[in-house]
Amino acid sequence: MNFEFYNPTKVLFGKANLEKLGEVVKAFGNKALLVTGGGSVKRNGTFDKAVASLKKSNVEIVECDGIEPNPKISSVRKGVKLVKEHNCDVIVALGGGSTMDCSKVIAAGALYDGDPWDMIFHGQENVYIPQKALPVITVPTLAATGSEMDGFAVINNEETSDKQEMCSILLYPKYSIMDPVNTFTVPKYQTAAGTADIMSHIFELYFDGTPGKYMQDRVMEGLLKTCIHFGPVACEKPDDYEARANLMWTSSWAINGFLACGLTSLWPVHAMEHQLSAVYDVTHGHGLAVLTPVWMRYILNDDNVDRFVNYGVNVFGISPDKKPYEIAELAIQKTEEVFEKMGLKLSMQDLGITDESHFESMAERAADGLD
Ligand code: NZQ
Ligand code: ZN
Repeated sequence: MNFEFYNPTKVLFGKANLEKLGEVVKAFGNKALLVTGGGSVKRNGTFDKAVASLKKSNVEIVECDGIEPNPKISSVRKGVKLVKEHNCDVIVALGGGSTMDCSKVIAAGALYDGDPWDMIFHGQENVYIPQKALPVITVPTLAATGSEMDGFAVINNEETSDKQEMCSILLYPKYSIMDPVNTFTVPKYQTAAGTADIMSHIFELYFDGTPGKYMQDRVMEGLLKTCIHFGPVACEKPDDYEARANLMWTSSWAINGFLACGLTSLWPVHAMEHQLSAVYDVTHGHGLAVLTPVWMRYILNDDNVDRFVNYGVNVFGISPDKKPYEIAELAIQKTEEVFEKMGLKLSMQDLGITDESHFESMAERAADGLD
C-alpha cells in the first residue's frame, strides 16, 4: 500500500555520548524537566553523568522522579504541574519506556490547558489532538519499547484501570542518546521481557496479512534473529557490549515506522497485553511472551500458514521439506523455547493472574476503536 515515511529523531549511538547531553539540550532550552523512574539511573551512575553534562552547559534542572513501570496518568499530571510551575522549556527522559512515555505526554500536556488523559485514546468520542508539545530528549536505559525513536506513549489510568496510547508526530524525541553501556545494569528479568517486547513489535507486523512486503519481511527476520541470538547472551552476560548494542538498535528499528510502511496491522497482541498491564500491573514484555504463542496458534490457518513457514525456515532454520503445519507448530514451539531460555514463564498463572472476572471488560477495551 502507498505510504509516507518520516522519522525526525536524531540518534547519537555509542559509548560516552551522554557527555553531549548538555550541549544537545541547550539547543532547545535553558531549563529542563529531568524525568526518571524508581531509582535505577541513580544507582548505576547514569543520573550523575547526565546532571554533570547538563550543568556544564548551564542547563537548569527540575527533577521529576518516581515514574513507575506502566506509568500512571497521575505521574503525567505531576510532571505537567512541575513544568508549568517552573517554566521548563525542554523535557529530558532518563530511563526505560515508562519514563520516556510519561515524558512525552508531559511534553504535550504542558502546553494544553485540559487534563492530559483527554489526549490518550480510550474510546472517547472527542480525543484531544495536541497541536504543540515541548521538545523531548531521551536517554534510554533499557532496550525494549523503542519509545526513543517513535511517536507513541502508553499511559495507565489507575482510576479506571485502563491503559491506552496516544500517538503524534509531536512526540518523537528530538534526539535520543543511546549508549548500550547504560543498559548493562538491566536485570535478567527485564532484559528478557524487553527482548520479548522487541520480538512482539516485529511479530505484529510480520504476521500482518498485507501482501507484497517481501523486503520488510526479510529485514524483520534479521531483526528477529538478532533478538533470538543476543537476548539470551545479554541475560547471561549483562555487560556484553555487542549483545546490548545489537538489542538496543533493534529495539529502535522494530517500531520506528520503517517496518510498518504500507502495512495495516492493528497490533492485536499489544491491545490485549495493555489490558493485562492495566488490570494486573504485569511487566509489558512478560505479558506479551505469555500471549504470543497462544495468539500464534489461534490465528494460524490456511491463509497465513505460509508466513509461519517463512518464519520457521528463515528464522529458525527448520527444514522446508516438512509439511507446512508441522513447520508452523515447530516454529511456535521454538518461539516458546526462546522465551523460556531467557527465564520467562509462559502461563497466566505465572503472571499472577488467577481471577478471570475482568476478562470481558478487558476484551472490550482491547477492541476500543476497532470495527
Ligand atoms: O524505574 P527504574 O528504577 O528506572 O527501574 C526500571 C523498572 O523497574 C528498570 N530499569 C530500566 N533501566 C534500567 C533498569 N534497571 C536497571 N538498570 C537499568 N539501566 O526496569 C524496569 C522496567 O522499566 P520500564 O521503563 O517500565 O520498562 P520498559 O522499557 O519495558 O517500558 C515499558 C512501558 O512502555 C510501554 C509499555 O506498555 C510499558 O508501559 N510501551 C511503550 C511503547 C512505545 N512508546 O512505543 C511501545 C511498547 O509496546 C509498550 O507498550
Ligand atoms: Zn511493546
